[in-house]
Amino acid sequence: MEAGLKAGKTRAIGVSNFHPRHLKPLLKFAEIKSAVNQIMVNPSDQQEEIVSFNVDNNILTEAYSPLGTGKIFEVAELADLANKYNKTIAQVVLRWSLHKGYLPLPKSVTPARIKENAEIFDFDLSIEDIAFIDSLHGKAGLAKNPDEVDF
Ligand SMILES: NC(=O)c1ccc[n+]([C@@H]2O[C@H](COP(=O)([O-])OP(=O)(O)OC[C@H]3O[C@@H](n4cnc5c(N)ncnc54)[C@H](OP(=O)(O)O)[C@@H]3O)[C@@H](O)[C@H]2O)c1
Repeated sequence: MEAGLKAGKTRAIGVSNFHPRHLKPLLKFAEIKSAVNQIMVNPSDQQEEIVSFNVDNNILTEAYSPLGTGKIFEVAELADLANKYNKTIAQVVLRWSLHKGYLPLPKSVTPARIKENAEIFDFDLSIEDIAFIDSLHGKAGLAKNPDEVDF
């Protein structure tokens, strides 16, 4: 990837699903630091250890499954919050992701939802509501740790 970047074939390089134990050795030998670490992050699975390592090392956290692969819609508390802002749950959750400094990567095959998911730049969440969403960790489950899965 470094060769590709030096050859001008890409503007930035990065990694995915890297935990600090993977990033630490990489940071030691890499000539060009990863610009991004794409990991699963959403209100129910906040990956604090990885996010904080990314922040400390100036690596952008790209949040995949920012809607918890659809499970976030089961969190009843988010419906009230969405009503309060006259937005949808998806928009509130994606706005939270941006507020946290992540780059959310939602997926939809539904054109209306793709449009909806982009309409998040005309409102802001209050500090109290950000803190409330922070408190939802675990509410719609957590991703498995690959080190602990018996493949
Ligand atoms: N690096 C990795 O290891 C890794 C792993 C997993 C995923 N990813 C990436 O992350 C992207 C997104 O993750 P994901 O697909 O796992 O989960 P996600 O974006 O959190 O959730 C996708 C689900 O939410 C639904 N959805 C999307 N927008 C919605 C809206 N506004 N209202 C209601 N439902 C909505 C989608 O339904 P419909 O599509 O039916 O509209 C789909 O069922 C993927 O495209 C993939 O590229 C990366």
